[in-house]
Parts: sequence; C-alpha cells; structure tokens
Amino acid sequence: MKKLIVGNQKSYLKSNEVNDFIAGLRMVKDLSHVLICPSSIYMERYIKHNFITGCQDVSKYPSGADTGELSIEQIKSIGASFSLVGHSEQRSRKNETIEDTNIKIRQLLEEELVPILCVGESKAERDANKTEEVVLNELQGALDDLSTKDVEKIIIAYEPIWSIGTGIIPTNDEIENIISFIREYIEDNYHISGIILYGGSVNPHNIDTLNTIDGVDGYLIGGASSKIDEFIEIINKCTKEE
Ligand code: 13P
Repeated sequence: MKKLIVGNQKSYLKSNEVNDFIAGLRMVKDLSHVLICPSSIYMERYIKHNFITGCQDVSKYPSGADTGELSIEQIKSIGASFSLVGHSEQRSRKNETIEDTNIKIRQLLEEELVPILCVGESKAERDANKTEEVVLNELQGALDDLSTKDVEKIIIAYEPIWSIGTGIIPTNDEIENIISFIREYIEDNYHISGIILYGGSVNPHNIDTLNTIDGVDGYLIGGASSKIDEFIEIINKCTKEE
C-alpha cells in the first residue's frame, strides 16, 4: 500500500515557515508518491529541492496582459509538473465555471502538465441526496470532449465541500461508494481505471481508517499538509509496503 499524497498548502504558510517545512520534509526517505502545491510564490523553493511541485490553480488564459494571473506557460517554465483545477474554493470565491475548468484541463494537457481535478458536493446537495448527480455533472463538464488518452493523464480528487476544513468526514462506506461511482464512470466512458483521491479533513488520526477503504488511490490534504509533523505522520502511514 503506497498512497499518492497531494498536499494543498492553500495560503497557510509564511516565508520562514516554508523554510522549516522544507527542512522537515527533506528528512523523509521516500517522497516518490508525495506532491506539493505550495502558494505560487514559494513553488521554486520546493522545485529547487526536487519535490514534485504543482500549483493550486492556473489561469485559463495564455501568458500576456493579465494582471494577477499565473499562466500555464509560467508554471511550466519554473518546473512545475501539475496543477489542481476546479477546487471548490476557486469555484465558489472566484466564480470559476465547469467550462473554465475544462479549458484549464485541456491547456494543462497540451503543455504536458498533470491536471488534478476536484469534484464534490455541498452540504445542501448531500442533504438532498444529490451527491452522485453533482459529481456526475462535474465529471461530464470538466472532461467534456476529452479523449481516453487525455483522461488517463488526469488525477481526480473527490472532495465533499462540507468536509473541507471542518473535521467532519463521510463514512468509509460513503467514500467507497462515491469513489467506485467515479471509477465506473471513467471505466465505462474511457476504458481505463483512473487515479482517484479522497480529500476533506484528512489528518493523522483518521488516516488509518481511511486507508482501509477499497479503491482510494490517495489523498488531497489541506490543513494537515502545512503542519510538518502531521504531514510526515500521514506520509509514513501511507508508505508502508504490504
Ligand atoms: P482540509 O484537509 O483542510 O480539509 O482541506 C482539503 C482540501 O481542500 C484540499 O484541497
């Protein structure tokens, strides 16, 4: 069992804390399955130390006259290898549409960078029993008109919005069911198995239980990926060979 670990550090860390974090992470023996998305201003520091580094979001526009944007060409030019797309915090706060997410995925693939697509329902949608419907719509929209060759390069993260940063996670059965729902969609439409992560309040206390769920290929981790001790504990618990 070696799970893929993606750390989304959001905007948690200040400059001096990043130095400490990098120093701590460099002590970990096996980082081959660990991907880091720091704030973009820190990305080059991680890349310099050979961490697999990506972005929390990218612009849908090419490099040019776009104040405040971060283009795919720019992140590629510093050695980033992937980007999150469609994160619920981007979608809710910056009005990103599913069509925007689809454009970003296409452009990342064109530049040979890996998109990590986030999907997941809100609390109201969950309460209305609409989890599968929401996730299906998001998959259909984000993957619209992509080929099998494209989709096999994409990582999908199921992140229920109500679980992000709340300490509340779905039951193991709920996670297993929705991950298998996503996998079936990918298998039926693209004849590949896909790489599917779970995200939302993953921490050192629940990781052992999460690791018992069938079909979860890894985790997209927010808060705990900015606390070096917690992050290392999670990495170690997801590195054990069977
Ligand atoms: P938390 O792990 O803080 O709940 O965040 C999850 C997340 O949004 C990762 O992208």
